[in-house]
Formats: sequence, structure tokens, C-alpha cells
Amino acid sequence: MKIINLAQTLLRKNSWFVGAFQATLIFVSLILAWFLKFDFTLPQRQMLFSAAFLLVLIRMTLIARFGLLHGWWRYTGLSDALDVVKCVFVGSVLFILATQYLTRLSAFPRTIYVLEPLLTAGTLIGVRIFSRVLAESVRQDLAAARNVILIGAGAGAQTVVREIGRQGSEYAPLGYVDDDRSKAGLKIEDVPVLGTVDQLPELALMYPVDEILIAVPSATSKQMQRFVEVCERTGVKFRTVPALRDVISQRVSISDFRDVDVEDLLGRDPVEIDPESLRGAIYQRSVLVTGAAGSIGSELCRQILEHEPSILLCVDQSETGMFYLERELSQRCARTSLRCHVADAGDRRRMEHLFQGSRPETIFHAAAYKHVPLMEENVSAALQNNIFGLMSLMEMASEYECHGFVLVSSDKAVNPCNVMGATKRIGELIIAHRPTNGMRCLSVRFGNVLGSNGSVIPVLQQQLRNNEPLTVTHPEIKRFFMTIREAVSLVLQASVIGEKGDTFVLDMGQPLLVLELVRTLIKLSGRNENQVAIQFTGLRQGEKLVEELFYENEGVDETSFPKIKRARGPVRDWDSLLKKLEELEAALFLDNPDDVRAKIKEIVPEYSYLSQDQPIENNQRLWPAAVRRSVA
Ligand SMILES: NC(=O)c1ccc[n+]([C@@H]2O[C@H](COP(=O)([O-])OP(=O)(O)OC[C@H]3O[C@@H](n4cnc5c(N)ncnc54)[C@H](O)[C@@H]3O)[C@@H](O)[C@H]2O)c1
Repeated sequence: MKIINLAQTLLRKNSWFVGAFQATLIFVSLILAWFLKFDFTLPQRQMLFSAAFLLVLIRMTLIARFGLLHGWWRYTGLSDALDVVKCVFVGSVLFILATQYLTRLSAFPRTIYVLEPLLTAGTLIGVRIFSRVLAESVRQDLAAARNVILIGAGAGAQTVVREIGRQGSEYAPLGYVDDDRSKAGLKIEDVPVLGTVDQLPELALMYPVDEILIAVPSATSKQMQRFVEVCERTGVKFRTVPALRDVISQRVSISDFRDVDVEDLLGRDPVEIDPESLRGAIYQRSVLVTGAAGSIGSELCRQILEHEPSILLCVDQSETGMFYLERELSQRCARTSLRCHVADAGDRRRMEHLFQGSRPETIFHAAAYKHVPLMEENVSAALQNNIFGLMSLMEMASEYECHGFVLVSSDKAVNPCNVMGATKRIGELIIAHRPTNGMRCLSVRFGNVLGSNGSVIPVLQQQLRNNEPLTVTHPEIKRFFMTIREAVSLVLQASVIGEKGDTFVLDMGQPLLVLELVRTLIKLSGRNENQVAIQFTGLRQGEKLVEELFYENEGVDETSFPKIKRARGPVRDWDSLLKKLEELEAALFLDNPDDVRAKIKEIVPEYSYLSQDQPIENNQRLWPAAVRRSVA
């Protein structure tokens, strides 16, 4: 590339260079013609060199006359080619006249009169065309390439530079910035280290940078927050390489650059799990995932597939969801029989058929209705699906002697103040107390996962895209957040360490103010808070200001995995619980939500709810004491 640029500059700026170059071509054409005429020998050298001097003189004079001494060959066109032909023709006529009548070169070979002009015209036009083609390809590369500064000069960044150095890349690396001062001034992969990350704003003013690339795949959330903050100060567009774990699991390649997203800022820290023990539990076993097309179910399927079960039986009642899931997973299951079925996990007959065909040994039950306000309006559907669907599936699992049954629960199960949360709590109680012929049943409770279907982040992102005000129910509302990937890894790990009846709770760190999340999203969209309206819509029915992870009367045990805690609640008598569940099922037929809610409360005394005629403002008095304190 450098040599081409130098040649272009010489051609453009130095007519003596252009002249000397063309004179050489004319001389070489004459020698070549001589070679061809005399069977690749050079006889009569004195005549040849005298004629060469005369020929070059005539041709160069005409080249100057025809205006062909300029070096803008990259713009050459048909008119230049015609000028060359005319110039060569006139030059040949003059040369013939000169050799025949004005000099003592009358014995000059006639064939050379024909061969030489053909070769001269060919080379003079050829170099112009070649120069134009070359210049255009260089121009296209340069126009498309975006100048980037890379954050990080470690192994990840070097791989990125090698990748983008390949032909056809849209990036041209200007340099790295790295916190390691000992790298300053070094050239790595032929690209200089320009300074430290903190110097980026000044460097962005000094260099023609189009984009900043955060090239630290192993960056933690904290480091990402700092990189983003520095990038924002430069005012230059920035992107990131994917996280290391995604590169390692071969979901993406390191050069799949993308915009920084909320997950990078909140959930990049690696979770501690033991992949070997997971593999031992899944490898060559038959595994069933219900709700497989949903956010959590689909991630369960992805991670389970990494450990090569013999059969992965995916069940979901969403036909479109299953279509996409099957399309995605079928690419990655070389050693697993993937079986995708559109079915209601609570439909006994249908599930029996699937159990007969696939004999699942472990079941991950992620099928549920989960939208809080919607379920307040559809109480029977919520109960039917989340409680009685679960019971039916457990019965089947027990009959078919499954080894393990894992219920995906939710922090909304704790001191529930909505029907959805109450169904989750009842699910936990069933899992903990139902007799099971040795089947290990356990539930895993955790808070919001980032970006799941219909959750706060996708909704806010859609509002941002549509330039609508961002809606938040309350300025003080807080939620626990984890990435789907992280939560699912921990669910899988919990399934390995769990004993019969365990309730596990994932350590979600501190709850985050949703308003802060909104601000982060605004920043990541490249706008500021003056450009985007935030609208507070008021708490919805059954919505708490702050979710909790444990009941007051639950003991908390550590496990060998720091992010997985075991909750120990009071033991209940299964027979009386079953009786209450039967009464609850019977109440569904009466179709009076208040009666149903009263029955729920008999099973979950901590459940608080508003009867239909109570105003929603009273909701706050129904929050548990701990929450009232934190809000006050
Ligand atoms: N999303 C979160 O932030 C979060 C956090 C903690 C716990 N959870 C729990 O995880 C579970 C799944 O949540 P999600 O976010 O993946 O929800 P989702 O809506 O994305 O997925 C649920 C899936 O279950 C399917 N489904 C529902 N009922 C079914 C049935 N009877 N038979 C077959 N398929 C059925 C739906 O079609 C859907 O595809 C829920 O129980 C939820 O409470 C979710």
C-alpha cells in the first residue's frame, strides 16, 4: 500500500519522473521489437542505439506536445488512449522520415517500423490503465475503511488488528490505547500504542478517528463502564468486541463488533460454575425443557446443548417461537437428537406421548405465564398454567421415573402481592413438599433477567427507537438484574448440587434503580436526558417498589457456589397442602377472582392483594414491612 501511494505521488507531482518513465518504456519497446525481429539476439547494436536515441527524442517531444507528460494516470480515459495512438503514429512517421532521409540509418529494419509503435502504444496505454485500476481499488479500500483507535493492546486487541488487517476489512487501525504505561510507544502488529485510556479524549482530537473499538473481551462490567465513560467524552462513535465467554463458546467471533449494550455494563462478570459437573449430569442423557421458546427456556436449551445430551426435548405452546428455536438449535446439535414439539406442558395426554418417545431423565420447567398486570386480569389462566400445569407435569415425571425436576421460580414468589408471584410461591411449595419416589425436585428463585421477552429493557429500547417518552412506573422502583446467560448457568449448576425439595436463590447483588437503567439506556443510544422525555406512569396493580429474594422466616445456607444460596423455609404437611390445592382448583370453576385470591392466601399467608373495589393507591400499605421501610 505504501509503495503504491509513493508511486502515485511521484506520478502526480513530478513530470520529469513521468517523462523518464515513458522514455524508458519507449526504449524497452524498441529493444523488445529488436529481440523479436532477430530471434532474441541484439545484432547491429550501433545502429540500434543511434536509432533509439533518435526515436526517444522524437517520441518524447511529441508526448510533451500532445500533453501526455502529466501524471494523472488514475483518471485516464479513452481520450488519453487516442492521444497516445495519435502521438505514436505521428512519431513513427517522423522517425521513418528521419531514418530514411536525414540520417545514415536507411538500412534500419522495416519490421521494426511496425513492431516498435505497436509495443510502444501498448505499454503507454497499458501503464495508464493499470494505474487507474490500481488507484481505484486503493481508493475504494480507503473510502470504505474507518479509522479506529482500539482500547486495549492485549491479546484480544492484537487478534482484532490481525482480523481487520485482512483484505476487505472496513476498519483501518490508527493505534491502541492501554492502561499499561510500559506499552507506550511500542508497535504491536505494526500498529502503535498511542497512550493510555485516559488520554483518549486528547488523542481523538489529534488523530482523524472515525470510531473507537473497545477491544478487551475479558473486560468486567466496571471496566466497561469506565471505557464507555471515556468514549463518551471523546464524542466519537464507539463499539465493542463481544465478551470473552461468548467468543470461547463459539457463539460469535471476536470480530463481530457491536454496540455496547446494557448487559456489558451490568452483567459481564463471569459466574463461578463447574462445567465438568454440568457435563457429567447432561452428557448423553435425555433432557426436557418446557417453555423452550421463551427467554429462559431457549437459553437453557443452548447451554444444555453445549454438554451434548442424547436427546433434547423442547416443548412450548408458541408455534412461532418453536419455529425460530428449531431453526437456531438444529445448526448446533451434531451429537444430540433435537426434538421440538408445540405442546401445552400441562396437557397430560400429549405429554405422556412425548414422555414415551423420549423418556426424559431431567426436566427443566420454564413454561409459565409471567406478565404481572396481565395475570391480574386472567387469574384462572395463571393458576391453571403455573400451578396445575406444574402438578400434572410432575405427576408424569414421577410415573416415568425421571431423576430430576427443576422449577424456574421468581423473586416475585417472595411476599407476593400479585397472582403471578403467588403462583410461583405455590409452585415452590409443591416442589418442596410433594412426595416423589426419589425424583430430585428443586426450584431456583431469581430476579429479573436483562432483556427477556416483554421485560423493561426491550420495552424501553423500543420506545427509544420510536422516539417516544420512556415510561417508568415510579422514580424509586428498584429491581434485581442478571443476564439470562448468567442466571441459566446458575440454574443448571443448582440442578446438579440440589437435593430433593431444595429451594435455591441466586445472589443477584444489589437491586438497581430502574431510573438509573433508563439513564444508561439513553446514554448508550447516543442521546442525553434533555433529548428524551421520561414519564412516570404510577405503580401498576400487583407491582412492588422493591422485590425481595427471601422470606423473613427463611434461613439462608451457603453452597459451594457463592452465587447460589439455599433457602430453608418452614416444613408444611403435604396432605393439608394438597387439600388446599384441590379447594383452589375447585374455586377456579366459580370464576370469582376475589374468592380465588382468598384461597391463594390460605396457602400463602404472606400473599397480599387488593379486592376488586379497592383503589390502587392503597397498594403501598400491602407491601411487606421491609419494603415499606426501604421506601420511606
Ligand atoms: N424473565 C425474567 O426476568 C424472569 C426472572 C426470574 C424468573 N423468571 C421465570 O422464568 C420463567 C420463564 O420466563 P421467561 O422470561 O422465559 O418467559 P417467556 O414468556 O419468555 O417464556 C415462557 C415460555 O413458556 C411458554 N409457555 C407458557 N405456558 C406454557 C405451557 N403450558 N406449555 C408450554 N409452553 C408454555 C410460552 O409460550 C413462552 O414461550 C417464568 O416462570 C418466569 O417467572 C423469569
